[in-house]
Amino acid sequence: MTVVQLQRAARLAELEMDLPTAVTLPDGQRVCLVRDAERVYAVADRCPHRDFALSGGDIVAPCILECPWHGARFDIRTGRVVEGPATDDLTTYTVRVVGEEVFVGARRVP
Ligand code: FES
Repeated sequence: MTVVQLQRAARLAELEMDLPTAVTLPDGQRVCLVRDAERVYAVADRCPHRDFALSGGDIVAPCILECPWHGARFDIRTGRVVEGPATDDLTTYTVRVVGEEVFVGARRVP
């Protein structure tokens, strides 16, 4: 069994509702966090279309993140592309919230 360490990513209070926020994890990975009314999601902060940052994008529908560069849309719950031009799904991460702290865990490559 592989044990994946949780990495502290942010304080809950630092995350505005539906505002994609870039953070760098202690191991150097850059992820984009999105908080909604239910939970916090973490996805790679790199659009699979042209590798630009997704954290400058917008939540355009519940759990749908739009890339600011060419408008690809992804479901941040699953990483799936819901609208091109991207054709590859997005890497997602498990997230755990403990009290006021947000931790990011295992990477789920599509
Ligand atoms: S870089 Fe994201 S859609 Fe092109």
